[in-house]
Amino acid sequence: MKSLQLSMLLLSLVLAALLSFSMGALPHEDFLQCLSLRSNDSSTISSVIYTRNNPSYSTVLESTIRNLRFNSTNTPKPLVIVTPSRTSHFQATIYCSRKHGLQIRTRSGGHDYEGLSYVAKVPFVVVDLVNFRSVDVDVENRVAWVQAGAILGEVYYRIAEKSRTLSFAAGVFHSIGVGGFISGGGFGLLFRKYGTGGDNVIDAQFIDVNGRILDRKSMGEDLFWAIRGGGGGSFGIVLAWKLKLVPVPATVTVFSVSRTLEQNATQLILRWQEIAHQLPDEMNPDVSMFSVNSTQDGRKTILASFSSLFLGTIDELLPIMQQRFPELGLSRQDCSEMSWIGSILYFNQLQNQPLEILLNRTFRNPVGGQYYKIKSDYVKEPISETALNGLFSRLSDEEASSAIIIFMAYGGIMDRIPEDATPFPHRAGNLYKIYYNVNWQEQDNVNSQKYIDWSRRVYNYMTPFVSKSPREAYANYRDLDIGSNNVGITSYTEASVWGRKYFKNNFDRLVQVKTKIDPENFFKHEQSIPPLH
Ligand code: FDA
Repeated sequence: MKSLQLSMLLLSLVLAALLSFSMGALPHEDFLQCLSLRSNDSSTISSVIYTRNNPSYSTVLESTIRNLRFNSTNTPKPLVIVTPSRTSHFQATIYCSRKHGLQIRTRSGGHDYEGLSYVAKVPFVVVDLVNFRSVDVDVENRVAWVQAGAILGEVYYRIAEKSRTLSFAAGVFHSIGVGGFISGGGFGLLFRKYGTGGDNVIDAQFIDVNGRILDRKSMGEDLFWAIRGGGGGSFGIVLAWKLKLVPVPATVTVFSVSRTLEQNATQLILRWQEIAHQLPDEMNPDVSMFSVNSTQDGRKTILASFSSLFLGTIDELLPIMQQRFPELGLSRQDCSEMSWIGSILYFNQLQNQPLEILLNRTFRNPVGGQYYKIKSDYVKEPISETALNGLFSRLSDEEASSAIIIFMAYGGIMDRIPEDATPFPHRAGNLYKIYYNVNWQEQDNVNSQKYIDWSRRVYNYMTPFVSKSPREAYANYRDLDIGSNNVGITSYTEASVWGRKYFKNNFDRLVQVKTKIDPENFFKHEQSIPPLH
C-alpha cells in the first residue's frame, strides 16, 4: 500500500514537473518573464504589453490594419503586441525576442500592402510605435524631429500649426506611418519639386539588433543611406527622423478634369504621356482610370481623371496648361485655390472635414478600398494606342468594377537626383509610374482570389510596355508576387529576384549594409534584405 502511495506521489511529481516544463516552454511566457526582468521599471513595461488574453489585444492589433484582407480569422496573429513608450522597452523587446526565438514585426502606420508589419508565418511579436509619435517642429531652422510612429497627417498638421509656407515632401494619405513611408522611399505631392521623403531626411534615431541607439554620426553613412529607402523591417527599428522642411506657397491650386472614352480620353492620355514628365516641377500630374457606366447610354466606359497640385495660383497655372496641354481644355472652373494643407484634405477627398481629421490614425479612408491587391510598374517609352485599348478592355472586366489604374508622372527633380543617392533608384528616364489597385467589398472577400488573379493578368499583359531587366517596382508598393524570401533560410540569389526590381544596383550595397549591421538576420520578413553568409 505504502509503495503504491509512493508511486502515485512520484507520478504526480513527474506530471507536475512535465506540466510546468511544457508551460515554461511556451515561447511567449518565457518572453514575457524576460521582458519584466529586463525592464528597469517592470510596471511601465507591463502597461504596454498585450497578450491574447488581454481584452484590448484585438482592438490594438486591428487599430491600424489597413488592408482588411489580412484581418481574417485565418490570418496568423502575434503572440504578443508591445507598444513601447520608452527606448528601454524597445531594447528589452529586441533582447527577449532574440533570446526566445521570436520574430519581430515593426509597425508604424500599418499600411504595408502585404500586411508584413503585423502578419508572419512564424511565432512573432508586433512592436507597434503608436506611443512613439511626437512631432517637434523648428520653423526657424526649417527642420522637424518626428518619431517614427507619427502619421503623415500629424506631421502636416503640426507643421501647419506653425507655418502656412513650410511642409514635408510626403504622401497624400494622412494615416500612413512616417516609419514605413520613409523606410521605403516615400513619394507624394511634392516629389517632382523636392524628391522623395527619404531625400529629405537629415538625421535619424535608430535601434539595432544589439539594442544600441544610433544617430547619423554613430551609425555611419552606409546605414544612414540604407534606412532611407531600402525597405522597412530589414535593418533594425527607426525611432525618429529629422526632416528637412521645404517651402510651399501660401496659396496653391488643385484641379481635376474627367473625360470618358467618348470624350476623347484615349487621345488625351496619349498626349499626357508625352508631356506630363516635362511639366513644371511645381506640379505632380496624375491620370486615374476606372470603369464607369456612361451617362449617355448606361453602357460601360472608361473615365480618365487628370489631376494635379500646382505650387502657385490659378492665374499662374492656366497659361502653362494652355501652352503645354491645350487639348485638356483646363478652365478656371476646374481649379480651386487653397492652403497647402487644404490640398491634403482635397486629395484625400476630405474637403469638408476639419483639419483635425488628419490627426486620426485609426480613420479608415474608403478611397482606394479596404480589401485590395496592389502592383506597380515604371514606363520609359510612351505606350501605344493599341496597348492602351488593351488596358481599358481589362479595366472593363467584371472583376475590375472597383479597380483603379493611375499613371503618375515622373521628371522634375527626380531626373536630377542620382540613382544611388538613396536606395530608391527610379530616377532619370522614367516617364511615369503605374499604380494598379484592384479592390473589393467585405462580402466578396471569399472571392478575393478572382480579383488577385485579375491583377496578375493585367500585370502580365503590360509586360511588353513597361521597364525591363529589371522590371522595376516601387518598394513601398509591396507586392509578394514579384518574389519573396524563404523566411527559414534567406538566400541572396532568391532575394535578388525581387530586390533588383525594387532597388536595381543599389540592392548589392543594401546587402553589404545588412551583413554588417545584422549578420545573423534577426530582422527579417518575406522581402527583407538578406545578409551574405
Ligand atoms: P507599416 O507600419 O505597415 O510598415 C511598412 C513596412 O515598414 C513594414 O515592413 C514594417 O515592418 C516597416 N516599418 C514600419 N515602421 C518601421 C520602423 N519604425 N522602423 C523600421 N521599419 C519599420 N506610398 C507612397 O510613397 N506614397 C503614397 O502616396 C502612398 N499612398 C498610400 C495609400 C494607402 C491607402 C496605402 C495603404 C499605402 C500607400 N503608400 C504610399 C504606401 C506606403 O508608403 C507604404 O505602405 C509604407 O510602407 C507604409 O508605412 P506604414 O508605417 O504606414 O506601414
